[in-house]
Amino acid sequence: MNLFLSLLSAAALFATTCYTHAQDKAPVNAGPYVPSPTSVVADMLTLADVGPKDFVIDLGSGDGRIVLTAAKVFGARGFGVDINEKLVRDANESAKIQGIADRASFSIQDLFKTDISKATVLTMYLLPNTVNMLKGKLLAELKPGTRIISHDYGLADWWAAKTITMDLEDKIAISGVTTTIIFLYKVPAKFAGSWSAKLPATISKGPVNLDLTAHLVTRVRGKARIGGKDVGVEEGLMNGEVLKFKLLVGGKYFDFVGTVKDGSIEGTVEGEGLKPATWSASTAK
Ligand SMILES: C[S@@+](CC[C@H](N)C(=O)[O-])C[C@H]1O[C@@H](n2cnc3c(N)ncnc32)[C@H](O)[C@@H]1O
Repeated sequence: MNLFLSLLSAAALFATTCYTHAQDKAPVNAGPYVPSPTSVVADMLTLADVGPKDFVIDLGSGDGRIVLTAAKVFGARGFGVDINEKLVRDANESAKIQGIADRASFSIQDLFKTDISKATVLTMYLLPNTVNMLKGKLLAELKPGTRIISHDYGLADWWAAKTITMDLEDKIAISGVTTTIIFLYKVPAKFAGSWSAKLPATISKGPVNLDLTAHLVTRVRGKARIGGKDVGVEEGLMNGEVLKFKLLVGGKYFDFVGTVKDGSIEGTVEGEGLKPATWSASTAK
């Protein structure tokens, strides 16, 4: 068992003591306080491509270093939540000292009950089981395109858009090993289901039934019914609101790109003998 995990039982007791706002029962302890090394914080925010337009939420914010760095160095805004009162007080104090209290704030709050819908970037350094307990909440509350960054522990059965793996001596004191992984995920727009598509006449003269399913959350699988035959969706990928896939029709490949929004898809398709042309789809009734 690594050090991070073994610190949990001590931290659980500490967190329960610190959380004095207990309404009904103490929150689930999502991880002990161990700060991400400053170089990892910079790498996490760089991997998420954080900028002045971003709103960063750190679940279990510790001394606030992720949101403070996002505001101070990357020009973003945001907030952090933690159940440890002292850490929240220290983080707000640091924001004041650094002159960024208008853009970075911290509150004593259970991360499982925090409204995360404002985030454009969500960060976490939590225990592996906690990260996975949050999957439903992340998909339900975050907007399509929101970047999720997780330090060391990934979301099971969720395709990462990117990962960075490195060895860091600083991590020995935290986890007992030098290995450090940063995972980047992007929240997909809801695309799974049946669509009625209008394609250029070169591909199909009549409307096409497109059935799409999600694999590992952002991979797209399915089939299109064209000319009485099922054609498999190939290389399907959802990147935020952007859907991409290929169809092999009449021996020719066609590349589709589309934006999925509010129950419709609008996009372009091109391929052999077909210059970029528009296509669209709406949810099949
Ligand atoms: C590993 S530390 C990460 C600190 C910071 N995000 C960083 O990367 O430096 C995890 C933090 O989560 C907090 N925490 C644990 N359970 C929580 C819960 N249910 N709600 C809010 N914070 C929680 C702990 O108090 C601790 O500060």
